[in-house]
Amino acid sequence: MQTRNWPSIAQTTALLLVALLALPFGLYSLDFAQGGLRNALPEPHYIRSDNLSANLAIFTHMGTGALITVLAPFQLIAPLRRRFPRLHRWSGRIITAAAVITAIGGLIYIGLRGTIGGTPMDIGFTLYGTLTLLAAIQTYRHARARRINQHNAWALRLFWLAIASWLYRVHYGLWYLITGGLWSNPEFTGAFDLAQNFAFYLPYLIAVEIYLSRRRYRVAVN
Ligand code: HEM
Repeated sequence: MQTRNWPSIAQTTALLLVALLALPFGLYSLDFAQGGLRNALPEPHYIRSDNLSANLAIFTHMGTGALITVLAPFQLIAPLRRRFPRLHRWSGRIITAAAVITAIGGLIYIGLRGTIGGTPMDIGFTLYGTLTLLAAIQTYRHARARRINQHNAWALRLFWLAIASWLYRVHYGLWYLITGGLWSNPEFTGAFDLAQNFAFYLPYLIAVEIYLSRRRYRVAVN
């Protein structure tokens, strides 16, 4: 009798759920991108200014960001990868290019206009963009060189970075639901806002590092 691989089924279900839950944010981001690029936002928004380069950078980043948020979970689904390796490679190339554009677009915007939250948010988002850029390049480089272990490790980091912008909204949504917006204000200078400048990606990356080092240890002792 064939036994079911429950951990793999649970992982696939969780990844599909993440893609599904992140889809509304991806569509919101895509719509924001096209409205901003066409100068057709329903209402004036502080993100759009007279600075053409900043507009192009930030709205392009929203479009490519939407793509990586929704596509990244599918890359980690093992049965899909095994069955359709060509699809995995092609969507991997698309995600790499989109992640590079997303990160560079966000970084250019910070350099030209700065974020709404000032220096602390500039620092948090600059680190976020830099790590995303690094993870995208490393994931691609190791795949090309067939260094599968390193590729997998960087792909896992890239996954958490790719869904981090959605997690940022999830954190805010839950926090406002539970506390009504304690330690948070429209200027993004509250204690919660300051923590969020890093909390939407750093704790997840630390958890990934712990997981990877435990896995390395298990392999070493076996
Ligand atoms: C991962 C996919 C990403 C998506 C889907 C995404 C999407 C968005 C959206 C929709 C906004 C507009 C905020 C609003 O709702 O009003 C935004 C703002 C912004 N994003 Fe991203 N983003 C992503 C990744 C990044 C990365 C990697 C950076 C790195 C530098 C970045 C930097 C910024 C900055 C600086 C702003 C403006 C913040 C402000 O001053 O309001 N984003 N992003």
